[in-house]
Amino acid sequence: MRCIAIINQKGGCGKTTVVTNLSACLATQGKRTLLVDMDPQSHCAVGLAVPEEQIERNIYDVLISAYSETKTELKNIVWQIAQNFDLAPSGIELAALEPQLSGQDRREECLKYVLEQEAGGYDYVLIDCPPSVGLLTFNALRAADEVIIPVETGYFALHGLSRQMETLEVLKKQCQQEIDIRVLATMYDVRTKLAREVLSEMKKQFGQFMFKTIINFNTKLKEASSFGQAISEYDPGSKGMRDFMALSRTIIEAEQEHQVTMGVESVEMQLEQMSRSADELVCEASAMVGEKTAFQQEKMSKATVQEKIDIFYGVRQRQGMVEFVALYPKAKQVQIAGDFNGWDPQKTPLSGDSEMGEWKVSMPLGLGRYKYRYVVDGRWQQDPYNEVTEDNPFGERNSVLEVK
Ligand SMILES: Nc1ncnc2c1ncn2[C@@H]1O[C@H](COP(=O)(O)OP(=O)(O)OP(=O)(O)O)[C@@H](O)[C@H]1O
Ligand SMILES: [Mg+2]
Repeated sequence: MRCIAIINQKGGCGKTTVVTNLSACLATQGKRTLLVDMDPQSHCAVGLAVPEEQIERNIYDVLISAYSETKTELKNIVWQIAQNFDLAPSGIELAALEPQLSGQDRREECLKYVLEQEAGGYDYVLIDCPPSVGLLTFNALRAADEVIIPVETGYFALHGLSRQMETLEVLKKQCQQEIDIRVLATMYDVRTKLAREVLSEMKKQFGQFMFKTIINFNTKLKEASSFGQAISEYDPGSKGMRDFMALSRTIIEAEQEHQVTMGVESVEMQLEQMSRSADELVCEASAMVGEKTAFQQEKMSKATVQEKIDIFYGVRQRQGMVEFVALYPKAKQVQIAGDFNGWDPQKTPLSGDSEMGEWKVSMPLGLGRYKYRYVVDGRWQQDPYNEVTEDNPFGERNSVLEVK
């Protein structure tokens, strides 16, 4: 049995999309596959049309079994999704696992223990993780012998890149066993220059730690999950399906090699090299943005990478006003639409200029939670400098702001 955890603390980088479609593609090739959802948001069930209201027990009940009177076995919670493809769904109770097990022995090994005892009949166990680092992710890490880190290569990835790479630091601290770690480029849009630059930089930096297969941005993948299907069912002729089949073949081909290479290179060395590469990648990526004008370069030259981003771009609350600042070097017009202006971008243009590339607006917003998107030359998009997002009904993500 091979156990692969899909980890990245950055939200929305494609973890669930990777885990569901990769599981489905492994299953179509005859591999008995179990997908374990360790994210309390239970997106795997949603994306695979498992009716949430009918899930009586979930992975939480199995994990807590070791510490309680009531025993629930893995086989009692599993849903069959397709031939060779089972899902162990999660539930909101999973969010309570960490406080409930605080102070308990070996609480980071609950999942490992369950899988060792009860998942022997599967060829592959894939684990979806929440976008945070805590007990749930540590459990996935302990159980896994391989980790895939999906990294967005799109335009909006840049700001979150350093955050995504912090995952490596966490891995470094947490890994006690031999573990094989690979970075997977996702949501790649070949038409944008920046995406091409980010990808080529990633290849340079990560080299052998990167999958050669890339997951392209493909709207069919988005549609598939909103229809509750894996891509193999929704559109087997799509580019998304091609990418995931290629990824699954690469993983299957490595079965032999995996046996041989495990243990050859120490995990610490692997991670050392990867996090060095990640630091360089973040610098390069910031330079791609920072290079825009001499003025900005000078202003930025003394700050650290994270400070550079923090100083300039994002959402800030100051003296009752909320200031939105974004960098769009080539834009002719930037507007903002949100629930504070009836989602009408015409009402709130940002001021800036295309040479500077810096766009700003301030507005008085009362206490509360607001959703918004930027409209850049007519194209709606999430705020690349705000990590807090949520899905919207159009299959995209709104940026979210909490005024406190
Ligand atoms: N390759 C892709 N092409 C097009 N859309 C994609 C692709 N990968 C992911 N998406 C879309 O991006 C959004 C976020 O993806 P997903 O839910 O897989 O991310 P995640 O890392 O699991 O998020 P979270 O951290 O919140 O769990 C979803 O709407 C998904 O449909
Ligand atoms: Mg997810």
